[in-house]
Parts: sequence; C-alpha cells; structure tokens
Amino acid sequence: MKVQVKVSTEKFAQCDAQMYVMFMQEGFDANKIFKDFIAKTTFSFKSYFEEIEFSGKVKSVVNFPAQVDDHVVHFVCIGVGGKVCPVGIDRKEVLRRGIGSAIKVTRGKKIKDVAVLVPEASFFETEFEQIAEQITTISIMAGYQYDVFMSRFSNAKKSITVHLVVPKEFKQDAQYACDRGTIIGEAVNTTREYVDTPPAYMTPTIFAEKVQELTKACGMKCTVLEDKKMEQLGMGGVLGVARGSVQAPKFIIAEYKGGKKGAKTIALVGKGITFDSGGICIKPGNSMLTMKGDMAGAAAVFNVACALAHMKAPVNIVAVAPVTENMPGPHAQKPGDIVRFYNGKTAEIKDTDAEGRLVLADALSYTVDKIKPDIMIDIATLTGACEYAVGPYYAALISEHDDLAQQLSVSGNRTGDRVWRLPYTDDYKEAIKSNIADMANTGTRNKAGTITASAFLQHFVGDVPWAHLDIASGDFDIPVSYFDTGSTGIAVRLLIDFCLHAEK
Ligand code: BES
Ligand code: MN
Ligand code: ZN
Repeated sequence: MKVQVKVSTEKFAQCDAQMYVMFMQEGFDANKIFKDFIAKTTFSFKSYFEEIEFSGKVKSVVNFPAQVDDHVVHFVCIGVGGKVCPVGIDRKEVLRRGIGSAIKVTRGKKIKDVAVLVPEASFFETEFEQIAEQITTISIMAGYQYDVFMSRFSNAKKSITVHLVVPKEFKQDAQYACDRGTIIGEAVNTTREYVDTPPAYMTPTIFAEKVQELTKACGMKCTVLEDKKMEQLGMGGVLGVARGSVQAPKFIIAEYKGGKKGAKTIALVGKGITFDSGGICIKPGNSMLTMKGDMAGAAAVFNVACALAHMKAPVNIVAVAPVTENMPGPHAQKPGDIVRFYNGKTAEIKDTDAEGRLVLADALSYTVDKIKPDIMIDIATLTGACEYAVGPYYAALISEHDDLAQQLSVSGNRTGDRVWRLPYTDDYKEAIKSNIADMANTGTRNKAGTITASAFLQHFVGDVPWAHLDIASGDFDIPVSYFDTGSTGIAVRLLIDFCLHAEK
C-alpha cells in the first residue's frame, strides 16, 4: 500500500477524510474534543467511551465507525496517558505505535484519506517538527508489505493519503517535516524491499544495478569494482567467499559530498551477502530462510546516503559494500584455508559460515586506505547471537569511542530505531587467535559471538573512530504496529539521524 503524506491547515472535522486519528490524554473531555463532529452526528462519543471504558490510558487504542453527515467514517483514538509519564514508557514510541496501528486499520477498507490531528509536541517532550516528521515516516513505513509475488491479495495498487492537520502558523514547519519524513520513510521501505526480495532476484549483479539506479536518481557518484579489480587490490576476503558461487561478486562505492569546506566525511560500510547458505559449513535448511536478507547492511548504507542526498544534507557520506553470495561448490573455500585481505593481514577460515567479517575486512581496510574517513560505521547482519541478545527491537552497538556510541544512542532514541551497546574489552579480543594465521574467523569458544566478531573487524579499521552495528536482530516474525512480518529497515532511520547531527 502506498502512503502519501500531505499537510493540511483545515479544521480537523472539516477535512474530507474517511478516517480521523487523534491522540487523547487521560481525562479528556469528549464533548469538547469532538465538538465539531457532534454537530454532524447523533452518535454519542462520550457514552461510547464510557461504554468501552476508554479513558486515554497510555498504550490503549480504539477504533470505531460512526455516521457523520451522510456517510460512515472511522475514528482511531490513541491513548497517550496523563501528565506524568509512567516509568518505562517512551511516549514517542507510544505515538509511533499508535500511528502504525491506525494506518493498519485502513487495510482491507475503502479508506483513501486519513486525517491525523498532530498533537501538542511538549507533551512528548520534543518539538513540533519532530512529531510531524515522525508521524510522516511511520505512516509510510506502516503501509509497507512485501506483496510483489502475491497474485491474489496484492495490496500494491491501493494508495492512501495521510493529512497532517496542523495550526496555520505551523504550516511551513510542517511541510519541511513532512518532506523529510517522507524521504526517510521511503528510504526505510526501499531498504526493506531489497531485503525481502528473493535471492534469485537480488544477485550481486542485480544489487549493483539497483544501487546504480538509486544513486543516479539522487545525483550521487557510484563506482562498481569487478572481481578482476578486486584481485589486483588483493581483496582475498571477498574473493574467498565468492569462490563457491556462480554469481560474480561486486564491490560498490557511492559518494555524496554535501558538506561545507572542511566538513567531516562519514563512511558507512554495509555487509552485502545476497544469500548466505553457510558455504561448505552449510546451514540447516530452516536457518537459510532469512538469509536472502544477509545484505541488509549494504541495502541500508546506500539508501541512507541517498536519503541524505535527497535532503541536500550538509554532510559528506561514502557508502561502501562488498556484495557476494556465500555458497558451497567445487571451487568454494574450505575450513582450514587461509585468506589474505586488502591490508595484508591473514585469517584462518575455521568456519565458512562466518563470512560476513571476511568481506567486511576488505571493505573496512579499503575504506580506511582510500577514503580516509573521519568516522566509520559498519552495519552488518553479522551474528545469530545478536538475535538472541537484543532481537528484534534493538541493534547491537560495539565501539570503543564513547562519544560516537553516545551519539548513536541518542539518534536511536530520537528516531525509535534503537541501539544497545555491548561490553567490549581486550579480554574478548583474545578469542580469535590462530596458531597459523594473524587471526581466526571464529572465536575459540562459542561465547559472546557478537563481540568476538567485532574483535575480528577491529583489525581492519586502523585509527579511524569506528562503531560496529550488528543488525542480525532486525527481522520480525510477527507484525508489530508499524512493522509487518519480515524486514524492518533497521538502522536506516538511526543512521540518517546520526549523519544529520554529526556536524553539530
Ligand atoms: N548471516 C549470518 C548471521 C545471521 C544469523 C544473521 C541469523 C541473521 C540471522 C552470519 O554470516 C553467520 O552465519 N554467522 C555465524 C557465525 C559463526 C559461524 C561464528 C553465526 O552467527 O552462527
Ligand atoms: Mn554466515
Ligand atoms: Zn552471513
């Protein structure tokens, strides 16, 4: 379902919509809030709320139809609680979830226009623009369903318009927020589409073509290196993983230079395994079901860069991704093999299924050497352990740079795309020692896999301030509010926000 968001300064009850969404504080006065509707209906909002005991309690949502003038319209009322915010409640997330469930109500109904009364920002301890932007982004995200191959139930043709109803004096601010929120929501959804696309339709070659189209559309420079070039550069990590597959690997670099003179360059490096079978250390069948999404990091970095380019953000971004399949095959690398990376270091392959760190080793050391970024963040569906640790509501964050970790954490809380920092001390780094190479690609003991994977990556980041985001947690098996089952576009909202605030 396509969701479009527009700004309206009309009176709420005057909006030409089939659904009205409003946020209600505990102890609200129904006769006052619904005054303009009451004039056009015999329905008693007050008695109805009493009947169903809806009092605006935080996290409660009701939706009901009512006859207004000569047609039936739907109301969605989202409880946001009282003046004091209860411990453990994040009101902005209450707002997001509320909007998400409201948009879901339109599924299977003839609703085309949804009017949302943008609430008072101070109640959510934020600014008006933030609220308007969040409502926009979440509305667009909530419309997403991967139904490209659903011949019978396709929702794709349906489209709705969400009208942000705001006071006249906020019109300009609201329009700005709406434009930004739209760019962010669409970047999230495009990332999700890449992730949900079946592996046969998202090979490294197709992925590179898609990124070239995407970056061209937002005026970015994009370079795709072929395997020949990777050989010259000594990228033994990417090439080693790619050996088992008939699909040629790609190495993609896209640049957006919007920063003023002397502005920082942020490098975003994404893991791009378009299908992870495990290679010779093959995974059980069930574990492969989500492995078409092992390029979620790569999908995220290009969509983030492109969103920033669309916004004409005053930042310099370089998005980099090694893209390949990880397959068994007559030429596949084997446990016991040793590979040499771009920076000359070597690793013993103890498990061909720990392939993400191998491709990232080349990508990180290449980026440090050629781009010389001021900050480097890698984003990867790196370890199954991450799913157990924080999935699916957080991404795991590992960094030795407190400022960087703090800024990412703030961006996570501001956008609802959250991170949780894991411990990272020298003790964990011992685990990847090898007797025959500079390091091994798995830990000696099967503990804290998310952290030991990070210890591996650290060998390739030089002195650049670096943070690692493990997003292996980012798939939903049950739909939650603004998410459907499947991909979530995890880290896209987070990184856009982080980059927008990096210069400040
Ligand atoms: N892509 C997987 C990690 C993953 C697992 C992502 C489940 C999302 C859901 C990664 O390449 C992998 O296979 N990691 C192994 C590493 C192990 C062999 C050291 C893992 O976590 O089991
Ligand atoms: Mn793997
Ligand atoms: Zn993988």
